[in-house]
Formats: sequence, structure tokens, C-alpha cells
Amino acid sequence: MRLSIKASGICKSFTQPDGSPKQALKDISFEIMKGELVVIGGENGSGKSLLMKILAGLETPSEGKVDRDSEIGLVFQDADAQILADTAIEDVLFGLRMKDRATARAKALAALEKVGLDAKADSPSHFLSGGEKRRLAIASILALGRDTLIFDEPYSNLDYPGVKSVNSIVTELKEAGLTIIILTHELEKCLGLADRFMVLHHGQLVYNGDPATALAMDLEAWGIRKPESPLETLVWRS
Ligand SMILES: Nc1ncnc2c1ncn2[C@@H]1O[C@H](COP(=O)(O)OP(=O)(O)O)[C@@H](O)[C@H]1O
Ligand SMILES: [Mg+2]
Repeated sequence: MRLSIKASGICKSFTQPDGSPKQALKDISFEIMKGELVVIGGENGSGKSLLMKILAGLETPSEGKVDRDSEIGLVFQDADAQILADTAIEDVLFGLRMKDRATARAKALAALEKVGLDAKADSPSHFLSGGEKRRLAIASILALGRDTLIFDEPYSNLDYPGVKSVNSIVTELKEAGLTIIILTHELEKCLGLADRFMVLHHGQLVYNGDPATALAMDLEAWGIRKPESPLETLVWRS
């Protein structure tokens, strides 16, 4: 198996308004293999989004380093902020920045099709529903053809059908061989999809292993509601 991402001793500190230091990430090391689907859980403020930005190279760690096999595609939590153009297809085209319009349009349409939005290609992006906006944000990243994708809180503000459609896209991408990382505190919606589970707590990696084993542990001590069902049922899908 080949490595997709290797994080070695990642630390990140900030200076707080009162001048005191805050260590937001503390000595985090792990490896993610190509084709793995990893769920990273943790309460709000545990460091998930910050870790994502460091993995993708958008933030530099104070200490440690990240080795990545290729560029990482990020699907941000706030789909509205990620959508920049007036129509769905223009939004996907915007990220592509290709000179050849015909090839770019074909690529953009293929990405919209993967998320089931091809029929809405020319719809005004701001008239899309919350679930459609999330899928558009995913299409814009898919069009870039990245092998590794990180989804930051992909279920936030989504209803039951919206969650199911995100999970069906995620499942197809995994079957196509992509490496996928889902950052979430909503384990009941996705842990059943995971090959591996990691937990961040107060900036530390406190668990990195088998999802089923984690369910027998005291997740509540890490600020995570312990799901009651067996692992197979911990996924919302059709
Ligand atoms: N640019 C920044 N400046 C100062 N503190 C930050 C910055 N980015 C993140 N933090 C702090 O790092 C911690 C982790 O935040 P975050 O990664 O957003 O958590 P999560 O995504 O798990 O909710 C929080 O305490 C947050 O305030
Ligand atoms: Mg976050």
C-alpha cells in the first residue's frame, strides 16, 4: 500500500489576545494510505479544521512536517463561502481555469453529473438548496481531479436526504480509489463507512485505529456522544 499523507510531529501554536501562547495542535503523527477512508472525530475546537489546513498546506505548522503524495482537495464546511460564481457550471469552471472552453465545459459537466447536478448546470447557484450547494462544492473540487479529498463537517445543516446523498458520493469516490478524510462530530452519520477512525481532543490525537474498537472506549471523555448502535448501522444511506 502506498502512502497518501504522512504527518510527523505536527504542532501549531497561536498567540492569544492577552499575549499568552495557545497550543492548538500537539505533536500529531499519523499515516494515511491511498484509498483509505478515515473519519476524524472530535468536539468543536479540538483542532480538526486547523489540522485539515495544515495537511493541505494552507497553514504552516509551528513544528513538524507533512508529506503528501499529491495535492489535496478540500471541501469546506461553509458551502456558501466556497461557491463563487452565478451558476452551478460557472462555479465548477471557475476552479478549472482552463483555456480550452469546450474541454473545460465537458469536465465541469462530468463533475456535476457525479454529484447529480447536471440538470441544474445553468441554475443560479444561490437558488440551490443546502444539499445541492454542498454537492456543488464537492463537484468543483472533483473537477480538479485530486486523489485525496478532505471533507470538513460535510453533514452540517443537511437534512436526512442531504446526508444520504453526500454519503453516496463519498462511497462512489472510495470505490473509485480516492483517499477520503471526513472531519466530523456526527459519527452516527458516517462511522460505518470508515476504514479507520481518529479522535482529536484538545489538539491531541487520542485515538487512531479500528472504528469498532473505538466504540467500546469512553468516547464521552473526549467530548463525543457515544453512538448506541453497532458499527454497521452508523451510517445514513439509502
Ligand atoms: N488562525 C487562528 N488563530 C488563533 N487560533 C486559532 C486559529 N485557527 C484555529 N485556532 C484555534 O485552534 C483551535 C482548533 O480550532 P478548529 O481547528 O477550528 O477546531 P474544530 O474544527 O475541531 O472545531 C481552536 O481553539 C481555535 O480557536
Ligand atoms: Mg472545524
